[in-house]
Amino acid sequence: MNKRKLKDIEVSEIGMGTMAFSHGYGQIPSEEYSIEAIKNAYKNGCTFFDTAEVYSPNLSGIGHNELIVGKALKDVRDKVVIATKFFIKSSEVINGDVYNAIKKHLLGSMERLQVKMIDLYYLHRISDIKIEEIAKAMGKLIKEGLIRGWGLSHVDIDVITKAQNITPLSAIQNIYSLVERDSEEKIIPYCIKNNIGFVPFSPIASGLLSGKITTSTQFEKNDDVRNWVPQLKKENIEGNKPIIDLIQKFAQKKQATPAQISLAWMIKKYPNVVPIPGSKNKERIVENLNAYKVNLSDDEFKEFETELNKLKVYGHRGFAF
Ligand SMILES: NC(=O)c1ccc[n+]([C@@H]2O[C@H](COP(=O)([O-])OP(=O)(O)OC[C@H]3O[C@@H](n4cnc5c(N)ncnc54)[C@H](OP(=O)(O)O)[C@@H]3O)[C@@H](O)[C@H]2O)c1
Repeated sequence: MNKRKLKDIEVSEIGMGTMAFSHGYGQIPSEEYSIEAIKNAYKNGCTFFDTAEVYSPNLSGIGHNELIVGKALKDVRDKVVIATKFFIKSSEVINGDVYNAIKKHLLGSMERLQVKMIDLYYLHRISDIKIEEIAKAMGKLIKEGLIRGWGLSHVDIDVITKAQNITPLSAIQNIYSLVERDSEEKIIPYCIKNNIGFVPFSPIASGLLSGKITTSTQFEKNDDVRNWVPQLKKENIEGNKPIIDLIQKFAQKKQATPAQISLAWMIKKYPNVVPIPGSKNKERIVENLNAYKVNLSDDEFKEFETELNKLKVYGHRGFAF
């Protein structure tokens, strides 16, 4: 697969989000299946894997997902880039020592992931700790070689700018898809200008853009984000149908699947974008990775965007959750 750079960290053009093996999309597969699916993604060209310390059933604990990722990738550790995320509140900071409070999270992740260094370490959500303090501590962790680069997740341009001024960022991970395009206005252009990678989460809009969700699709009762994702409310699935029709039209034309078109669109649009689609299905993971093979020509891309821009999006998540 083609490679891209998140600042100086080289990754496959399409990565893999591993969250659903632990949280967010209903029942989780067996650990054995999850490990096999991650190994299979690597065999199919994926070298960029995204996890977080908090990914666990019902977000009830720490580390469920990191343990799986660690087991799956330990034999190819030097050939892959592992990204994980932490969250920290001021109540965890003793005597103003933000660095050591973060380091405690980091060492836990490193142990679960079976690594001596984390390639990309994100702050999962901003909290009551000043971003400048976090940026300073991350700079120290980079100098010490405990992390290669750092990132922020679910952040606006003001936070990014403050952080970047202290310790240059490797990546921003925000929601981004054909139906969540807020980051196009300021954030992605800022990232391009400042050599920061942009890693879209939920790039298939939690399944909507696969074209397989209809108004009669039943989501699961337990630990399933699709029950509150705005675009997946019944009336919004109906409202968004013209967007799905447009994707289907291009999928047919390019002999690709709708999920692949959704991913191919964003990697054609920006040179610094590396999506991390999520799936708990081995075959669909490979389908998504193979989106790199779908080359939209300049004219096709222009036609797609022109038609897309005429369509209203029903439901908006933005920074709400
Ligand atoms: N930073 C953050 O705050 C944050 C938040 C959310 C997610 N993330 C990261 O981003 C990754 C991806 O986000 P996400 O999983 O929420 O959303 P997503 O990738 O947009 O969509 C996942 C959903 O789409 C379905 N799907 C995926 N590919 C498909 C295909 N080819 N055909 C049909 N259905 C398909 C999956 O179903 P199946 O499992 O049945 O295939 C699943 O229900 C996560 O794994 C996580 O690493 C980060």
